Amino acid sequence: MSKNFDVVVIGGGPGGYIAAIRAAQLGFNTACIDEWKNEKGGPAPGGTCTNVGCIPSKALLQSSEHYEHASHGFAEHGIEVKGLGLNLEKMLGRKNTVVKQNNDGILYLFKKNKVTFFHGRGSFVKGDANGYEIKVAGAAEETITAKHVIVATGSNARALPGAEFDEKLILSNTGALSISEVPKKLGVIGAGVIGLEMGSVWRRLGAEVTVLEALPTFLGAVDEQIAKEAQKLLTKQGLAVNLGVKIGTIKAGKNSVSVEYTDAKGEAHTGEFDKLIISIGRTPNTIGLNAEGVGLKLDERGFIAVDGDCKTNLPNVWAVGDVVRGPMLAHKAEEEGVAVAERIAGQHGHVNFNTIPWVIYTSPEIAWVGKTEQQLKAEGVQYKAGTFPFLANGRARALGDTSGMVKFLADAKTDEILGVHIVGPMASELISEAVVAMEFRASSEDIARICHAHPSLSEATKEAALAVDKRALNF
Ligand code: FAD
Ligand code: NAI
Repeated sequence: MSKNFDVVVIGGGPGGYIAAIRAAQLGFNTACIDEWKNEKGGPAPGGTCTNVGCIPSKALLQSSEHYEHASHGFAEHGIEVKGLGLNLEKMLGRKNTVVKQNNDGILYLFKKNKVTFFHGRGSFVKGDANGYEIKVAGAAEETITAKHVIVATGSNARALPGAEFDEKLILSNTGALSISEVPKKLGVIGAGVIGLEMGSVWRRLGAEVTVLEALPTFLGAVDEQIAKEAQKLLTKQGLAVNLGVKIGTIKAGKNSVSVEYTDAKGEAHTGEFDKLIISIGRTPNTIGLNAEGVGLKLDERGFIAVDGDCKTNLPNVWAVGDVVRGPMLAHKAEEEGVAVAERIAGQHGHVNFNTIPWVIYTSPEIAWVGKTEQQLKAEGVQYKAGTFPFLANGRARALGDTSGMVKFLADAKTDEILGVHIVGPMASELISEAVVAMEFRASSEDIARICHAHPSLSEATKEAALAVDKRALNF
């Protein structure tokens, strides 16, 4: 096996494995090192996303949504379900199978693209512009060399001081995806993306969920109108979200966890939970890389410092994904991975940070791209807004899911689309149209004049675009 590579990627998550595939496509002799282990100790490439993130969470969100439909939603369609039961072991088993299919898919893609895979931890030994020595510590220890190195080592859940994750009672995303018995009372600290998605899963399966959020506003980064609507809908489903709390002492007992906190009014409470998920953000993972040994610079927050092109301070060393600045999203990591491989090949890879979509996979889903109304106001941009509710959309009525709306924000003078915000059914799919439109710098009128299939949820997108000029047809 070759030990000398043109490109070595450290980390096999969506940033790393995609960078490796693209580099191999471009003709480079490429290796990818990833240390993630499956339960048998074997390789499990795909990183956080595949193993304890995007994929398993979406599998459980789907399963729990089916369960909720069968429990509460089918009756309205005239479908009567008797003797409904929950086999959580099977549900978790399915989730694990989906994860494994994705792990295996990546190993297959490595073979197909002739990427050499190393299972183990990669760390810098030494190097300069002429090349780097990388140690791989796996079942055996070996050293390989690389002309270019792409660091894609991802991130880990941030712990609260004094409440380390034991993954039995105090859970990070890892434990939250594998609770073997539905907790009666589940506490969640942090009403961010993970808190809302995992809180939704366990609420649907029967847990009483209390979410404790430090900030006084719900989903502060989301367009205010959409966030308010989402808060109303999620609260109605039974997710108890407490804003403006201050977390005090957290104590894990034998079978439960107590959380002392003060609410927004300053009143003291103690919550007793069977399980506690802590989802207060993630920290970049640079441990074990020997970054300091080769002088790889980190920024003041511990991320690998990179420029707009993902170049680090070291010649021919690049970094992508969660370990660098910017949103911690799998698709952002992938785009950076592709762009870096192309830049190594002398091409002009580019990531447009203005058109990276966000999706929160609650029900209804929340999705957006571009600027929020509050951002435009703060920036003094003159804009027009148009909204359209799913209540007035024929397909949503037929589906029996009429919650939420689509909202367009367009430049007051040029009509260029500046942001699109959706809370509603299949928002994750609907947002793609807005991303394409914004990439092509379309106007809201462009969308308003495009023929959309009927009946479809996408007609709500067209109608919201029409509403920018106050000419929605169905509302
Ligand atoms: P990672 O996926 O973290 O991969 C890094 C890999 O590098 C890991 O396999 C790690 O073991 C390995 N590694 C680290 N150090 C070394 C080393 N020294 N040597 C060898 N290997 C090493 N994003 C979305 O876009 N959509 C979602 O729906 C979504 N859902 C999520 C749900 C949850 C619960 C969580 C926690 C995250 C979710 N994310 C989602 C975020 C997404 O998972 C991350 O943005 C994405 O995984 C980042 O990719 P990455 O390649 O940078 O890092
Ligand atoms: P987050 O940043 O989305 O949310 C963290 C929340 O915790 C914030 O609302 C913050 O105000 C709150 N918080 C912070 N400290 C706190 C404290 N001491 N007490 C109470 N609340 C506190 O982070 P989260 O949910 O951990 O997810 C991490 C990242 O993973 C996300 O930002 C996102 O990038 C990614 N992710 C993406 C998903 C998707 O795309 N659908 C799904 C899940 C995660």
